[in-house]
Amino acid sequence: MSTKKRILELLESNRGRRVSGEHIAKQIDVSRNAVWKSINELRNDGYKISAVTNKGYCLCDDNDILSVQGIIPFLANKKAADRIYVYPTLESTNKTAKEKAISEAKHGTAIITDFQTAGKGRYGRQFFSPSKHGIYMSLILHPAQLGFSTTTLVTAFAAVSVCEAIDAISDKMPQIKWVNDIFLDGKKICGILTEAVADYESGNVQWVVVGIGINFSTPKEEFPEDLRQIAGALFAEDTPSTTRNHLIAEIINRMTTENQLDEKEMLAKYRKRLMMLGKDILVSEAANTYEAVAVDIDDIGRLIVKTKATNEVRSLSSGEIKIQMK
Ligand code: BTN
Repeated sequence: MSTKKRILELLESNRGRRVSGEHIAKQIDVSRNAVWKSINELRNDGYKISAVTNKGYCLCDDNDILSVQGIIPFLANKKAADRIYVYPTLESTNKTAKEKAISEAKHGTAIITDFQTAGKGRYGRQFFSPSKHGIYMSLILHPAQLGFSTTTLVTAFAAVSVCEAIDAISDKMPQIKWVNDIFLDGKKICGILTEAVADYESGNVQWVVVGIGINFSTPKEEFPEDLRQIAGALFAEDTPSTTRNHLIAEIINRMTTENQLDEKEMLAKYRKRLMMLGKDILVSEAANTYEAVAVDIDDIGRLIVKTKATNEVRSLSSGEIKIQMK
């Protein structure tokens, strides 16, 4: 790792506190002059680092530049840092993750970027991915390591993990709109796109790529006109309580935990967060749209609905729903 990156790691893990040039030089085993040079390079990269003579350097609390070094202090398993890749710009983190999965990435590999030029949503839609205010990340997961009875549950697991990560860093109460949109105060703040990489011959799912897009602090006026009514941000009106790096680490901690995952417990958490159970909804399946009541989620994450017209009970594994306003 370069001197600059090692210094950044040290400053990130002492964020908001002063660290003397002497201490940094000793820790990293470089000269004071090399420390000074790297600090200047970091400033040129956009980091706000204050310096007080005889007291040292301090990475200001409001720095929010994505980096592996900024994620590390919050990782439960520091070794996971070897599998985290942060890029300034990508076409789509899911695209890069799929390429990496094919070339044998490890379970838990995370691809993160500050800006996507072709962010992808469900049904081939675009995902609005401006820089500085969002989190765009994809995790490469091996289904066997997760141990769920069906890969369809990975999406529910991702939604629960993101909600719990948000709980850990803020006092917000996010909810889930089936299948995997995350809402706050009636606005969508996160979308999840799960894609499978399968073996052509056997059809077995070898890898699952879970793409997570979060509007972290996107100002209202930055959303395109057509999204303003539906999309919001985690920190829409208020100053973020922490950094994007912190939230990313909390998501990685939950999604790549080595603890045994309990499928029933996970589904119970998913159910509890669902915002439409018992409500009237509008279901769109291919060209077919009908009114129904959202009844429950079954053991493989399908939405059980009762149609309004005929009282028929249906299990939906995909499709889109809209909650009807009364
Ligand atoms: C949706 O709401 O339709 C799903 C949106 C998923 C967006 C994320 S951002 C990170 C990852 N890379 C992509 O291109 N898409 C997903």
